[in-house]
Formats: sequence, structure tokens, C-alpha cells
Amino acid sequence: MIDMKQVIAEHIASSDHLAKKHVHPRLMKMFQVGGMGTVFTRAEGPYLFDAEGNRWLDMLAGGGVMFIGRNHPTVRKAILDTVDTDTPNLCVVNASVLGGLVAGRLLDLAGGGFGKVVFANSGTEATDVAVRFARYATRRRRFLYLEGSFHGRSYAAVSLCGWKEMQDGSEPLMPVTTPIRPNDIEQLRRELSYGDVAGFILEPVQGMTCTVLTPQYLQAARELCTKHGTYLIADEVQTGLGRVA
Ligand SMILES: Cc1ncc(COP(=O)(O)O)c(C=O)c1O
Repeated sequence: MIDMKQVIAEHIASSDHLAKKHVHPRLMKMFQVGGMGTVFTRAEGPYLFDAEGNRWLDMLAGGGVMFIGRNHPTVRKAILDTVDTDTPNLCVVNASVLGGLVAGRLLDLAGGGFGKVVFANSGTEATDVAVRFARYATRRRRFLYLEGSFHGRSYAAVSLCGWKEMQDGSEPLMPVTTPIRPNDIEQLRRELSYGDVAGFILEPVQGMTCTVLTPQYLQAARELCTKHGTYLIADEVQTGLGRVA
């Protein structure tokens, strides 16, 4: 049997651990060159601890874990308790009790107007699901996205990335996509008026550029999308669940 505690203990403090070699060597190299090569061995709430026991305040705010805090005792207990119940998962002829519980809670939090939840493993998968649903429901094919945006690394998501470096080498991308300028209501109005747009995807605050969409733009986007039968797809991977006021 694998002793995970021991395996992690053996590797975590190594400044040369295997992820640097096998998972994202270029990113790690970039951090190292930028003087950010600290190896963290423990995390608690907003704090990270390095191998020498120094405590660091993590100032990042975008990722989903940040609004709960790392290794939050309530989340940790829920995970451990659940594993202990031997609950069956992936029973082909039934649905997971846990999925139903989470879906019910999410719909409560969403505050009405929604009836179903589709689970995804990642932000990029959520983007792909939204693209497929919008295509299916509208029978249209064209999508609008904003310059400077980021929606993930899978095929549909990369096709809708306004951050062009992400697309290099992945061409040909999804054929009918149109980049538009953030906060330009007239351009949005014009593009939607052709009546062929399945979905318009946006981040309320762009993770890559920190561009903030104005309340007027978001309101106009909502109204124009409704008027022209286009799905407004809000990518809140960076902003959802209380991370912006
Ligand atoms: C706004 C936004 N959308 C989508 C994604 C993709 O999420 P994931 O990395 O979970 O696929 C990210 C990831 O940072 C993101 O910031």
C-alpha cells in the first residue's frame, strides 16, 4: 500500500521536485529567474510556510481556493468524513448523492431562476460546456469574446481567448469567433444585431489584463443578449463567490 504521507514528505521540500521536470518546467524556470523560487511545504488559510518555517502571506486573490483559505478545517473535515463513508461513486445506474446535495445548495445560493447544474472539473471545461449548450440551444455558431480575455486551455476555450499568445500553434481554431473591445457598447450592439451570435463570453474583471467591465457595459450586454437571443456567458472563475465587491 502506498503511504502518501511519506511519499509527499520525501518530495515536497525538494527544490528540484518532479513537477518542475515533468509538469511545467518553463513556468518554474520563469519563477526561479524572477527570484520567486521559494519552496512551500505547508499552507494554512492565507499563509504559506517554506521549508525553513518562514510564514508568507499569500496576496493572490483570483483562484477558487483563495476565498475559503487553504486547508480550511471545515472543508477538510467534510472531505475526510465523506471518504470515510465509503459512499459509492460512478454507479452507472444511479446518480451520486453528493452531486445532488451540491447542486441543491448551489441553486439555493444562485437565488432562483435556475433549475439545473452541470458539473465540470475545471474552468476550461465549463467554457466548453457553455459553448456546446449555446450552440445547441440557438442552432447558431458564432461567438463573441473580448480582447484580453482568458477562458482556459481546451480547444473551445483557447478559441475564445483574447490573449493571443495562448492561441499560437493551436490553429485552426473554432472558425466563427469574433473578438470585440471591452466596454464598447456600440460594437457589441452592432455584432449582436446580425442575429447570428450563439453566445457572448466575458469575464467581469479580466484575469490577464485586470480590465474591469463597467456596470453600464454589463447591463447593456445583458439587455442586448436577451434582445437578440444570444446567451450571455459569464466566466466567473476569477471573480465569483464574493471575490469582487
Ligand atoms: C477567467 C478564467 N476562466 C477559465 C479559466 C480556466 O480554468 P481552469 O484552469 O480550471 O481550466 C481560468 C484559469 O485561470 C480563468 O482565470
